[in-house]
Amino acid sequence: MSSKLRLGVLASGGGTNLQAIIDRIQDGSLNAEIALVISDKASAGALQRGRRAGIPVRCIAQRNYPDRLSFDRAMVEELRKARVELVILAGFMRLLSPLFLDAFPDRILNIHPALLPAFPGLNAQQQALQHGARLSGCTVHFVDSGVDTGPIVMQAAVPVLENDSVESLSQRILRQEHRIYPEAIRLFAEGRLRILHRRVIIVCPAENPAEALINPPIA
Ligand code: GAR
Repeated sequence: MSSKLRLGVLASGGGTNLQAIIDRIQDGSLNAEIALVISDKASAGALQRGRRAGIPVRCIAQRNYPDRLSFDRAMVEELRKARVELVILAGFMRLLSPLFLDAFPDRILNIHPALLPAFPGLNAQQQALQHGARLSGCTVHFVDSGVDTGPIVMQAAVPVLENDSVESLSQRILRQEHRIYPEAIRLFAEGRLRILHRRVIIVCPAENPAEALINPPIA
């Protein structure tokens, strides 16, 4: 009965998180629809994964725009045209400008390969190894104007082993990313996430699903 939440996925890399979301939609455990995949890299595996799943894809490369603002404006236009309601950053390696953030207030999620607030920014797995952390993991959070500072929705921890390389730790973290990202999106789709100050509250499912529409679609 309820219409499907329309997702726009932004990805710069291989797109395994995108794939995990596609898989959960296809097996029926995530009631959402990917309306558009955007990458800033023509060679991104994410674009191939999107095409293979029959999803509209666009490559929007920053070098084709005079500045960051016009690049962000081009992405916002495409997302609006596709009637996207929730933006999913899945390995998108660029910061978003206020113009983009204002276009989707509290409607942008990111996944970061560390237990925030530890190790924000680039090369989070390497930061964890170099610091000697015993645990690391991943974090799904709403995006705000800082670098990986937005309200935290969900986290999963993994051990850091003595003989880990960046690659082996990244793979262990990725397995958890693929589990918690679709789960966090499902909670959003069910209207169960509230941001109170900077804490995310997960509310119980409404008995009447119509009442769960606390994140009404963008007009
Ligand atoms: C993931 O590990 C994701 O957490 C990370 O990039 C990888 C993308 O993998 N994102 C960041 O580091 C963002 N700062 P994928 O392309 O296979 O989904």
